[in-house]
Amino acid sequence: MTQDELKKLVAEAALKYVVEDAVVGVGSGSTVNLFIDALASIKGRIEGAVAASEASAERLKKHGIRVFDLNSVSEIPVYVDGADEITEHLHMIKGGGGALTREKIVAAVAKSFVCICDASKLVPVLGKFPLPVEVIPMARSYVGREMLKRKAQPVLREGFKTDNGNLILDCHGLTIMDPPALEAELNGIAGVVTNGLFARRGADVLLLGAPDGVKTYKKKI
Ligand code: 5RP
Repeated sequence: MTQDELKKLVAEAALKYVVEDAVVGVGSGSTVNLFIDALASIKGRIEGAVAASEASAERLKKHGIRVFDLNSVSEIPVYVDGADEITEHLHMIKGGGGALTREKIVAAVAKSFVCICDASKLVPVLGKFPLPVEVIPMARSYVGREMLKRKAQPVLREGFKTDNGNLILDCHGLTIMDPPALEAELNGIAGVVTNGLFARRGADVLLLGAPDGVKTYKKKI
């Protein structure tokens, strides 16, 4: 099976977590695009969606799925999104597509986070994938120096602006042994909007696409 076929498999498997007559939270990325396409097949059974990126909102609308502003929604039973890396503890690095801040906000509102990935994303330790950090433009150099102090090599994502008008520093070379602690520490640096660690609010369920089918991991309580 190709990586795209594995993504499609988990995208379709996520449909069974979608709650009928409710608003579903939708992340972003190529796996989520396939989830949106699958969601179209049950669009008559959901109220609509909240999207974590402009691109996802556009794709949902093209399928005739109603897109709500997050401020007009008080409950999101389920949020479905991909990841760049994920551990068995369901801690993640996200933000490869640059939508990390909105993704973190929608995930925070949601009752349950269902992560959909192909098997290449499961890792023992986070950090091989460069950690995206969204920064206010005037703080770019300061935050870069702060990341160097933490033994990371920050690289500005060239020619890229987030949906919020900010910049991304992709931080290479980290071996992240305590994701919740690093997530909180980096978010405490002035000028950081958020970083791509999703550990304090990790996933509740991981649907991992492997050649022998979809494996389901649940958060250990
Ligand atoms: C975007 C994300 C995506 O979920 C992540 O990059 C995974 O994308 P893909 O499904 O294309 O591999 O965090 O900000």
